Amino acid sequence: MEKIFQYCKIDRSPPFTGGFVLINTLYLKSMMEQKFEFVYEVYSDIKELKKEDAELLTKARAVTKNAYAPYSNFYVGAVARLSNGEIVSGTNQENASFPVGICAERVLLGNAATLFPNMAIDTLAISYDSKEVKSDHPISPCGMCRQSLLEYETRTDKPIRLILAGQEGKIYIVKTVKFLLPFAFTSDELI
Ligand code: THU
Repeated sequence: MEKIFQYCKIDRSPPFTGGFVLINTLYLKSMMEQKFEFVYEVYSDIKELKKEDAELLTKARAVTKNAYAPYSNFYVGAVARLSNGEIVSGTNQENASFPVGICAERVLLGNAATLFPNMAIDTLAISYDSKEVKSDHPISPCGMCRQSLLEYETRTDKPIRLILAGQEGKIYIVKTVKFLLPFAFTSDELI
């Protein structure tokens, strides 16, 4: 549905103005509220997941040990199952010059695109571990990773299912990256 901005010019020329035509611009029907909402699944334990999802999450939890995160002590692991059945992973790799570091999700996307060009990602599990905080709830990709994930999803023309969880606790499943980035800036604006 599109927002409709409707301006209406009304000629009000009551007889007592002696012929003077008063143009009032009335802002009649302008504002419309629109809602964005999405549904996601919540599980309380990995045992509730179907086998392939549980396997992927187990790998994401385990691969956090390969993260290089001496500055944040926040170890992120991402593991994807591609459409051809291959499993690809990524972990965050930090740097003494902080902005140079790269998130687990974008390491994974680089690995997937390089090893299996144009192969869609069916499901991507993201987990984390930390020396400082409890890993007992889901995290979701940062803004920059959402943008990269969306580009990958669009270019391979297949929704990426996301499994988000800590080392323990609740698990979220989101059907597509699109849900995480409403009003996204995409290549549609450029081409
Ligand atoms: N990080 C990720 O790898 N993925 C995310 O989605 C959020 C944050 C990393 C970046 C940095 O190395 C550390 O976690 C703390 O922000």
